[in-house]
Amino acid sequence: MKKLLEIKNLETAFRIKDDYFNAVDNVSLDLHSNEVLAIVGESGCGKSTLATTVMGLHNENLTRSTGEVIYNGKNLLDMSEAELNSIRSKEIGMIFQDPLSSLNPLQRIGAQIEEALIYHTELDKEARHKRVIELLTQVGIPYPERCAKQYPHELSGGMRQRVMIAMALSCKPKIIIADEPTTALDVTIQAQILDLLKQLQAEMQAGVILITHDLGVVAEMADRVAVLYAGEVVELGTAEQVFKNPKHPYTRSLLRSIPQFDDDSNDDLYAIEGMVPSIKNLNRTGCRFAPRVPQLAEDSHEDNPTLHEVEEGHFVRCTCYKHFRFEEDAV
Ligand SMILES: Nc1ncnc2c1ncn2[C@@H]1O[C@H](COP(=O)(O)OP(=O)(O)OP(=O)(O)O)[C@@H](O)[C@H]1O
Ligand SMILES: [Mg+2]
Repeated sequence: MKKLLEIKNLETAFRIKDDYFNAVDNVSLDLHSNEVLAIVGESGCGKSTLATTVMGLHNENLTRSTGEVIYNGKNLLDMSEAELNSIRSKEIGMIFQDPLSSLNPLQRIGAQIEEALIYHTELDKEARHKRVIELLTQVGIPYPERCAKQYPHELSGGMRQRVMIAMALSCKPKIIIADEPTTALDVTIQAQILDLLKQLQAEMQAGVILITHDLGVVAEMADRVAVLYAGEVVELGTAEQVFKNPKHPYTRSLLRSIPQFDDDSNDDLYAIEGMVPSIKNLNRTGCRFAPRVPQLAEDSHEDNPTLHEVEEGHFVRCTCYKHFRFEEDAV
């Protein structure tokens, strides 16, 4: 499979007062054509920062990014705003979590979708209108002509998210980055939107980076999964490897916290104790997950944890995975 995007040793730090703190740390990931790569992890682990860094959406005065994001042989991190603008939407589309804050409330839907077409294509007015209607139809909007004339507030949440997808797809990008695209929607609508995204991705043979904290969504959609913790990839593999043979204690805890439909025990849902540390309190060396597995002896962690390949294409950070057991399983 063709590599569409190569993220190499990516670090993004935010400036807080006079210091910089890493929210994304030494992340290396590849995205291939026609694959869905899911990025998962709890709130605050750096998922959105990773996406916005790839898209070059940071204020240079307040953030510092190093490493490489190679697209078509060029490092996106070295590009000027003008060069990035020629790639955003056209080559790399983005779908955000909250369509209301990403859509312009004062502009009709049709005009908003048309904007990228004006900027990136040679289509004349009539052809653009035709394309807008085609896109709205493609994302399952029942009355596309009417929708094109409406304002965002006139649509339901699910319809607005469909519009966002139509916008992201308008120039047939090769890569789509979707940051929690369905979190704000109720479950049935969520399933419809995910089905739609999957279907369009397959039709366009696009590579999708799907960011979510919902492992149900990952199981449904992803070909490969990267688990992020405190800015670092702690596990990476195919969806099957990560779901059937999870190694890192963080991944295993995340999987355990999913409610099981057929579980008739009265046990409380599993919750991982503690929380993702703030970027100001990160352990720069040592295993970042160590504070959340206090039962493990200090020497079960590596001093400078690296990713280990445990089977082909399946990587896990730190040696602590070899020692971790859930309490009730440790007999
Ligand atoms: N502009 C900023 N300035 C300072 N710190 C920031 C900024 N944006 C994010 N952070 C911090 O960086 C870390 C990663 O945040 P990020 O939004 O990438 O997490 P996330 O995984 O997307 O979380 P969520 O699931 O809640 O969307 C967090 O600790 C967050 O507080
Ligand atoms: Mg986020």
